[in-house]
Amino acid sequence: SELLLLNGPNLGTLGTRQPEIYGTTTLAEIEAAVAEEAAGRGWKVVSAQHNGEGELIDVLQRHGHVAGAVVNPGALMIAGWGLRDALADFAPPWIEVHLSNVWAREGFRHSSVTAPLAAGVVMGLGALGYRLAARSLTLLVPDDRP
Ligand code: DQA
Repeated sequence: SELLLLNGPNLGTLGTRQPEIYGTTTLAEIEAAVAEEAAGRGWKVVSAQHNGEGELIDVLQRHGHVAGAVVNPGALMIAGWGLRDALADFAPPWIEVHLSNVWAREGFRHSSVTAPLAAGVVMGLGALGYRLAARSLTLLVPDDRP
């Protein structure tokens, strides 16, 4: 089985992107941490990061068979209606992650169009949030999922 790790716009530059907000952990390090958690359940990780909403939608449409997904939509949380529609049609359970506590930030980040479709949301825990989301899926997804 596979766990999909999907990261949206501007998350490919983690490590150097506004480190005071997003920390210094790189996306490669996050991928390794998620892979470690997934391995605990015998799952492989498929990881993708795109700046464009269309590419993210393509990945979701191609991975409807995975056991679960960890998704950081980045700024598409704010008005990514196409991404939201793709997630509405995405059957596997998935968890939304935000490195920062978006509730403690600007008002335009205080609601997410995608989060209401998620099984759960992890925010404000930095890179650790990805690991915790992945571990949660390994614990929550029933055995009869592929
Ligand atoms: C983010 C929060 C978003 O509001 C922002 O646009 C991002 C990163 C986070 O992980 O904290 O790009 O998703």
